[in-house]
Amino acid sequence: MSDAPEVKATSNGIPPPSFHLPLPDRPDIITANIQKLTELTPNPRHRFIFKALIKHLHQFINETSLTTDEWMAAIDFLTRTGQKCTPLRQENILLSDVLGVSALVDALNNPVAGGATENSVLGPFFTKDAADVGFGESIASEGKGDYMYVEGRILTTDGQPISNAVIETWETDDHGFYDTQYTDRSHPDCRGRLRSDDDGKFGYRAVVPVAYPIPGDGPVGELLLLLGRHNMRPNHLHMMVEAPGFHKLVTAFYPDGRDYLRSDCVFGVKKSLVVNLKDVVEDEEARKRGFPQGGSFKLLQYDIVLLTEDQSAIIRAGVGERYTITSDHKSDKS
Ligand code: BEZ
Ligand code: FE
Repeated sequence: MSDAPEVKATSNGIPPPSFHLPLPDRPDIITANIQKLTELTPNPRHRFIFKALIKHLHQFINETSLTTDEWMAAIDFLTRTGQKCTPLRQENILLSDVLGVSALVDALNNPVAGGATENSVLGPFFTKDAADVGFGESIASEGKGDYMYVEGRILTTDGQPISNAVIETWETDDHGFYDTQYTDRSHPDCRGRLRSDDDGKFGYRAVVPVAYPIPGDGPVGELLLLLGRHNMRPNHLHMMVEAPGFHKLVTAFYPDGRDYLRSDCVFGVKKSLVVNLKDVVEDEEARKRGFPQGGSFKLLQYDIVLLTEDQSAIIRAGVGERYTITSDHKSDKS
């Protein structure tokens, strides 16, 4: 006899339901039974979400006649996806990205309105340690790519300047790598934090963004190969803008006419975020903007428009009303 204290396995404390579920003699009874049990979910939002999830999941399994081997392959894939995650790598988000889930959640939660700048996917490469960068200074160390100057204003939907907005911006170098992807990263590079001035203006030196692959050495990379899809993002520059009283904007700008613009592997590109880079060839202009080597540079000009928190809440409430998932269909009430 062991002298360890006697511990009995116990339930989670929730009693069995007051009704009896039929014992299944057909597959559809399994679906009906779980839906009936899910009715007991105390929180209405949780009940709504899980009823919809179970409905679509079971529908998917019926529609595809999923085999046991395929089910096991999916379990194995999800297990490996979780195991690939580290504090610096989020393979689950990457999976959501390539399936268009991140872009859809982002679009539904940040509807377009009032001429406000649209959102784009955040991605996994934002860090909080960017250096503060003054007006006209550079976010990239010398030699990291071709020169680009970025300038614009932060505005309300009425065109009023928003001063002292905090702008985080980040991009890859001309090899297509974020600084965090270098194992010998000693300091933040190709990223910076700046503030709009009293007229809402901002300006900084950067490098011309290049197209780059999302990490392909994990389960998500395998999935893209299985689907016959490339793993490239088109050239872009990330920006995140915050100001008190305004809805936080997470966005990116995509230079026109570049590769992969219409087949972004994470569906982040939006029409309104495609920008023209101007060619500035006057050496004097380059020196005026502080490029140490002079010569030519690309100019990205864009005014960023923020919604107030109130405007954003009203617009989001409107979208919630327009797209309502009823018990058996998703209806567009417009
Ligand atoms: C990015 O743009 O940094 C990114 C977004 C989604 C997945 C991977 C990278
Ligand atoms: Fe990116």
